[in-house]
Amino acid sequence: MIQLIYKPSVYKFNTCKEFAEEFNVGKGDLVLSNEYIFKPYFGGLNLPVTTIFQEKFGTGEPTDVMVETIMAEAAKTNYKRIIAVGGGTVVDIAKVLSLRSTGNVDDLYAKIPNLDRDCELVIVPTTCGTGSEATNLSILNRTRLGTKMGLVSNAMYADSAVLIPELLHDLPLGVFATSSIDALVHAVESSLSPKATAYTKLFGYKAIEMILCGYRRIVAAGNTKESRIAESENFLIASNFAGLAFGTAGCATVHAMAYPLGGVFHVAHGESNYVLFTAVLKNYLEIQDAGEIRVLNQYLADLLDCSVETVYDELEKLLNHVLPKKPLHEFGVKKEDLQMFTDSVMKTQGRLLANSFVPLDDARILKIYTEIF
Ligand SMILES: [Fe+2]
Repeated sequence: MIQLIYKPSVYKFNTCKEFAEEFNVGKGDLVLSNEYIFKPYFGGLNLPVTTIFQEKFGTGEPTDVMVETIMAEAAKTNYKRIIAVGGGTVVDIAKVLSLRSTGNVDDLYAKIPNLDRDCELVIVPTTCGTGSEATNLSILNRTRLGTKMGLVSNAMYADSAVLIPELLHDLPLGVFATSSIDALVHAVESSLSPKATAYTKLFGYKAIEMILCGYRRIVAAGNTKESRIAESENFLIASNFAGLAFGTAGCATVHAMAYPLGGVFHVAHGESNYVLFTAVLKNYLEIQDAGEIRVLNQYLADLLDCSVETVYDELEKLLNHVLPKKPLHEFGVKKEDLQMFTDSVMKTQGRLLANSFVPLDDARILKIYTEIF
């Protein structure tokens, strides 16, 4: 059984300038980024790189059409290395761009798992949640098929993951909140997964501690921009740790059940996870109050200075300071949608449900949706 997949070399720099110097960023590099990130942080360095700004090719989550248009644009230049500087969308597109391809996304899905790398890939995350710099997964909306699907291949691991805390300094509160809660969910889900190992739990539990202690310090300081800036490095590393943990042990039911909320009602990934988070944990506990969930609950109780009986309520109290949790109906979900969500999860999310702490049937999935309605 695989214990820990640890592919990219991980670097950390205090500034973008230090990174650019150490990596000799310049001729032959294609930088995929967003203009509002690249310009303020790299613009003054006058690097002779080719840039592609993702937002010029569409907004929102990456689609097959967006990726193909960017592939065609990239093909006009000669590059030896791709440097992704951005959040989940930019990173996921860069991973696909680094593959040898015909320029057609459907062809890539058809070739799984026999995909090949075409050039070196460096990933510089600018949010503190996806952990995507540590994983081999890219999630694209396949508009021609009408579904969102993960493209998974070992050819998509970055060569280098580069953490630069200053890139988080202008992160809006909403993005900080949703991305860091996503990282917390990665850490918890991977630690409860049947695929968890001593190695993944080392990173998973440490990420939980870093994120919860970070939230407590931020809340104690009044949740100001300055208090979040002071935590940039802590959250960036925690997100990377959580990425390493779920890259091997996987995510599970929280992600699976959040999927229809994100896909149909366009709720941000981290927020849709948060809506499901404690409800899924409570239901795991109802089914089996033994094993790793006891370890987790004691660990959380120690961090939150509370009893294990009140641990999920205390956890939610803390998270609500960062992102107030809303019931499903406030996103526009109707009671009659819950059965449709349940059917969709049971039908399409088997990959994630397989990593659940305990198996859940459709009646249990519907019960959870009903509890958070
Ligand atoms: Fe996630």
